[in-house]
Amino acid sequence: MKKLFLFSCVAAIAVLLAGFVINRTTVSHAPSPAGIPCAATPATITATAFIPPAPTVVMVRKNIYSLSAAEITALKTGISAMKALPLTNPTSWQYQAAIHGTTLANNLASWNSCQHGTLYFLSWHRMYLYFFERILRAKSGSPALTLPYWNYQTNPALPPDYRNSAAGNTLYDGSRNASINAGGALGAGIMTAINNSLTNIPFYDFQGDLEGPHGSVHVSIGGNMGAVNKAALDPCFWLHHANIDRLWEVWMRKCGGRSNPTDATWLNHQFTFFDETGKAVVMTGSQVVHTASQLNYRYDFPLMLPCNFVIKWWEWKWKWWELLRIPVKINLREKLQRISFKQSKPDNLERFIRETKTQRFNFSDKSIPDKLFITLEGVQVNKMPEGSIEVYVNLPAGTAADPRSKFFAGVVDLFTATGHAHQHENTPANVRINISSAARTLGLTPAALRNAEISFVVRGNTLKGREVQTTADIEIGSVVMGVEKAEK
Ligand code: C2O
Repeated sequence: MKKLFLFSCVAAIAVLLAGFVINRTTVSHAPSPAGIPCAATPATITATAFIPPAPTVVMVRKNIYSLSAAEITALKTGISAMKALPLTNPTSWQYQAAIHGTTLANNLASWNSCQHGTLYFLSWHRMYLYFFERILRAKSGSPALTLPYWNYQTNPALPPDYRNSAAGNTLYDGSRNASINAGGALGAGIMTAINNSLTNIPFYDFQGDLEGPHGSVHVSIGGNMGAVNKAALDPCFWLHHANIDRLWEVWMRKCGGRSNPTDATWLNHQFTFFDETGKAVVMTGSQVVHTASQLNYRYDFPLMLPCNFVIKWWEWKWKWWELLRIPVKINLREKLQRISFKQSKPDNLERFIRETKTQRFNFSDKSIPDKLFITLEGVQVNKMPEGSIEVYVNLPAGTAADPRSKFFAGVVDLFTATGHAHQHENTPANVRINISSAARTLGLTPAALRNAEISFVVRGNTLKGREVQTTADIEIGSVVMGVEKAEK
């Protein structure tokens, strides 16, 4: 599933050289080393295996909007203490941020190790937050400190404490987009895309669809947050990712066959972090499946009951069909830009319909999770919008682009697309958008896809009820429509 979502670095180059021929390749849904991480070989260090904390009272991560003044002060104290440490100290603010990504050349242990567009997006960030929280707690001197989360679906403006530009406020970051520091709201399309991601049942589909709107939160905030190699320098990174981690729990609570991966690749993959004493610790996916029992934290909703049935989605096989391709270069500069698949050539649509005898995608039947994707190949971002880029399917001319409408399909993940750009300047990336739910609501048939039209809308953040004027400059090499068909 994820393997075509985004080709970063090495994979992207290899694919471009190979002319990107992915027709009818049989792919297995279960893990493969997708989206190869771009870290250069890290310095060798000695690390010990993670030992779960002794079971004690489970700590609660709270909504940032519900924190007391004393709790905010504790956050600030911890951040100041971390910022006062030298870069080379693994518990320093800068070192911790560099673990995610950095423009600095010294390649210290675990630097540039963030996972985007891979199988480990959620698990890696969970581990990263877990150790950061331990460090921040120790430095703050407040044993009760936990990482707060920002639920932008209920409070779309960045919390006031993070926007106060008073000298010495360690929660403030002046590099953010002006609309965000002025209290502007993130786009409604991001929120709809998050809700749509939660409806997925297979874990990797959920994860893939959550990563897109996650990236749009980064880009809408902008400044440090808008770039992978600087994002974790902004204190609001940790609010955002605590919320992404919480959404993983929200997804689990919906049961209905949802379950965390049980494949060996995901469970056993190792990543190295640092604890509050600066000691290197190796962690695996299997150690971050249950936050309460393994990591001693939960979110401020009641403890979860286990779901009563699970489906082993990773045992399914998926076959990728490229149906239609628009092989022309597209520049996204306009506020609204339409692309029609009528200009597609050559196409596999006829053969797909003939060979699969499919007249209608079975999107409404959740037990057959066929997916319809738009892939933007060779995406180069010359200018990020102060907001997000929304995608619509068959938006009628003259109809306002509304993310609550049935034409809304999702948001473009420009954050992940520009990934580790510092190591591979101008490496074009591939970005995938799952348009299945829009196709389902619109009742599209395979034959209708030939006339399908995709619209891209550059959406500004909202300030005082008004959309902020913004522009974008994005080059797209080609646009592909494809299906991932489930086969037993
Ligand atoms: Cu690794 Cu939200 O970024």
